[in-house]
Amino acid sequence: MEEIKFNQVGVSFKGSGSYVPDQILTNQEISQKVDTSHEWIKSRTGISERRISSLGDNVTEMGYEAALSAIEMANWDIKTIDLIILATSTPHDLFGSAPSIQAKLGAYNAVAYDLTAACSGFLFALITASQFLKGGLFKRAIVIGADQLSSFVDWNDRRSCILFGDGAGALAIEATNEFDNFIGFDMRTDGERGSYLNLPSKNNKDSIIDNIEFLTGGFSSIQMNGQEVYKFAVKEVPIIIEKLFRKTNYNSDQIDWLVLHQANQRILDSVGDRLKIPREKILSNLGKYGNTSAATIPLVMDEAIKNNRIKQNDIIATSGFGAGLSWGAALIKWG
Ligand code: COA
Repeated sequence: MEEIKFNQVGVSFKGSGSYVPDQILTNQEISQKVDTSHEWIKSRTGISERRISSLGDNVTEMGYEAALSAIEMANWDIKTIDLIILATSTPHDLFGSAPSIQAKLGAYNAVAYDLTAACSGFLFALITASQFLKGGLFKRAIVIGADQLSSFVDWNDRRSCILFGDGAGALAIEATNEFDNFIGFDMRTDGERGSYLNLPSKNNKDSIIDNIEFLTGGFSSIQMNGQEVYKFAVKEVPIIIEKLFRKTNYNSDQIDWLVLHQANQRILDSVGDRLKIPREKILSNLGKYGNTSAATIPLVMDEAIKNNRIKQNDIIATSGFGAGLSWGAALIKWG
């Protein structure tokens, strides 16, 4: 392990990037496959269309593009990157896709690994990376959220297939000993409620030789109890954000942007109402991309940063939530 490089360091946010596949699947097109309609999907979720990976797009490729764009914005020499964490539940390689991204980037001095926490993955990865930076072990980190859920959606299940899409986003963060823009965080899991949303393994029995059986590896499709997940999100997300406000001595009035995992517009609106944060401060790109799992937070942030909505020193309350069940929140200052 490297020597401690700093004492008492904080985190600063230096760059963002994102990538989505070109292929668009509209609500009208989904209604050719299952019994649904654009009006139903739009009014219940806020989603109009989503991106679907085609040949050549996978989590490694998408994550690489998002990371490269964040590194360009940060204006970093790639060899100065110490850490790459890829949050994903759908790696291109089950043994881990982050090292492939490291190799494609040429980030030879970085250590790279995957982290899985479904739709909370990006937030958990950001918290993990920030703790390494604050601990003084690493100076520069790339945190990526990338998922290709289209490969694991049951396209005959109208209760779930309407929600998900593919994409990637990334943030470039740096240790500094001058200030700390990673103001606070909290994170939770509750495995008791895990069955509300999961992507279980599916194994078939086979034999290696006579009398020695084994199970073939594989996965089934996304299993979801939509109503329970909805109730979980609108209850727990405001609670964890309010707790974070109390812990950090912040309140809703001081927040410039509420950046929630993009699951459903009704969830975003409900959480905003509970926290008394007005709609114009709640970032949303659900209409275009749907739920891209670990990618949603950096994807929507990158869009707002590049459109000059999120500005230097803006205060952002962010929350990820989803399968596990898992959820968390972080309070950051951009810049
Ligand atoms: N098109 C048309 N009708 C649909 C439909 C679709 N795509 N999906 C479900 N329905 C029907 C149901 O069959 C049901 O009909 P019924 O009353 O005749 O049985 C009716 O619509 C209401 O179903 P319900 O499940 O109560 O709908 P809902 O308002 O809860 O909306 C979700 C469903 C999935 C949009 C919503 O529950 C949700 O978004 N939950 C959170 C899921 C989520 O965010 N998951 C990821 C978290 S990271």
